[in-house]
Amino acid sequence: MEYEIINCSQLKDSYIGKVVEIYGWCRRIRDHGKKLFIDLADKFGSTQLVFESDIKTSADQLNKEFVIKAIGSVKKRDEDTVDKSNPTGYVEISVNNFEIINKSLQIPFELIDEKNKSLPNEELRLKYRYLDLRRQKMIKNIELRDKITKTIRKFFWNNNFLELETPTLVKDTYETGSRTFLVPSRIKKNAFYSLSQSPQIYKQLCMIGGLDKYFQIARCYRDEDQRIDRQPEFTQVDIEVSFKDETYIQNLIEQLISQIFKQTLNKEIKTPFIHLSYNEAMQKYGSDKPDLRFNNPIFDITTEMAKTDYKILKRIIENKGFVKSVAFNADYGLANSKINKQYLLKLIEQAKNLGLKGLTWLYVINNTIESEPHSISESIKNVHNELIEKMNLKNGDVILIGADLSENIVLDVLGKVRKIIGGELKQFKINTSFLWIDNFPLFEKDEITGKLKPAHNPFTAPTNNSIEYLDSNPELVVARQYDLVFNGEEIGGGSIRIHKPDLQKKVLKLIGMKDNAINDSFGFLINALSYGAPIHGGFAIGLDRFIALIDNNENIKDFILFPKNHKQELPVDSSPTQINKKRLLDDYNIKQEEIKEE
Ligand code: AMO
Repeated sequence: MEYEIINCSQLKDSYIGKVVEIYGWCRRIRDHGKKLFIDLADKFGSTQLVFESDIKTSADQLNKEFVIKAIGSVKKRDEDTVDKSNPTGYVEISVNNFEIINKSLQIPFELIDEKNKSLPNEELRLKYRYLDLRRQKMIKNIELRDKITKTIRKFFWNNNFLELETPTLVKDTYETGSRTFLVPSRIKKNAFYSLSQSPQIYKQLCMIGGLDKYFQIARCYRDEDQRIDRQPEFTQVDIEVSFKDETYIQNLIEQLISQIFKQTLNKEIKTPFIHLSYNEAMQKYGSDKPDLRFNNPIFDITTEMAKTDYKILKRIIENKGFVKSVAFNADYGLANSKINKQYLLKLIEQAKNLGLKGLTWLYVINNTIESEPHSISESIKNVHNELIEKMNLKNGDVILIGADLSENIVLDVLGKVRKIIGGELKQFKINTSFLWIDNFPLFEKDEITGKLKPAHNPFTAPTNNSIEYLDSNPELVVARQYDLVFNGEEIGGGSIRIHKPDLQKKVLKLIGMKDNAINDSFGFLINALSYGAPIHGGFAIGLDRFIALIDNNENIKDFILFPKNHKQELPVDSSPTQINKKRLLDDYNIKQEEIKEE
């Protein structure tokens, strides 16, 4: 006899009295003596099975995560056993017949997500990822990713973009940020591919090839130190267009993001996004990716503090140092107990670890500035009003002051302190903040070597207004680069590219590359640019990072099927594994003494 096959979320009242066939994993098992209850689960949900009488005896052998097929009749549950939290919780299946499809070893961790219960150890979750994926939260994460990916594809198809695939086994070129992964060639002796860090050059070649509008959901590989928002293997939503400018590309990305929010969260996003120049972001927020969900900028109060008797700060000012301050106001809950003295003392320790010698903290009460000990506020009494006015201070505000001879250090640490406190205020996350950062410098100086290096990548075009400084003062050259920041994290970057071969060569020379190195690494690009390259530019969103942030999670591993751990290992298969000498010699013919010297 054939019965309707249902999944584990399908049962409802209308099935009562019917006999059904169901497949799934035995997730929760409760033995009540005469009756055995099993919550059978699959990707869709869970359904309660009841085994009684004779069949209970044979069901006693069932264990967690056994895969079974069960046939039984659907019954209404007694009022007092209804589970309102589960859509199938009003009914159950009284099992007449079942079959074990596969047994399971004892599971290494529970697969039921329980509120307020911390997750199992991450390394264990990654090793048994196929089990971890059975958890409802992981299923939701993977489904969210799928939904967003589909929305992205539809968006670009509707906008007449070609979905193209660039190679990932590519030439090993000069890289600015991270190292590349190398792949030996079996056929060409002592030669290597590198795994593509991004489709950058190849999408430029597509534009030179006249393809006009390109997009790709592209896998990228970067050998860099691991962090919660980075993986050695990650995905970019990558685009490139010809004969368009920054405004076109930014509008397009804003529309894409609006659609993603609409489709996945049913949420409207305010466009256009605001823009901040790189310098303004650094001066006001001490970061090129400020979180503007809380608007507490950093103020320079060097002039004010120079007039006071506060000796520690005055000494720094006399040595041409900088004094800056950031305040957190009561609107965000700082007046209540969370940001108390104990918290602030801990914060000062953090600021010290980050590079400042200390932080001064003050607070506003009865419209005046106070401190512990009182002597600090007393020593700056003559500027209380100026500070209150300049920083728009209100009763309940806490003011943090940092000073150092290096302006960059003060800004950097106060920017981080601002972020730490912002993190504490998560309960005030009332909105989402998107902003563009533009007007980046084209180059920055390497702190160790003092050499110029590209602030982003060496293919970004300089602005017309600043190109004249390329020869006289390259550090003043402004890039046609734009980064997108979402809730304080960089989720994407792009630029208008250099499309003239001579300018491309010049920029590569400025970052210290010799003619033969340019030729070796980028000869093929410069050559291609010499055959009529169009004006072009593009953008890439870090897809894993973006999805994680949409779900209010910083850990991108939770949105990647089989992520690497912090040691760049893939715990599910224990790679990377050592390769024996014989294989290197037999398959790749790699002999140490024959490897190129330079
Ligand atoms: P960029 O290097 O800024 O730009 O990368 C674009 C975005 O990719 C994400 N991202 C990462 N995500 C996870 N793990 C990583 N290791 C990782 N590295 C980067 C970030 C980042 O903003 N070719 C240019 C784009 C362009 O100009 O078109 C590029 O790759 O969210």
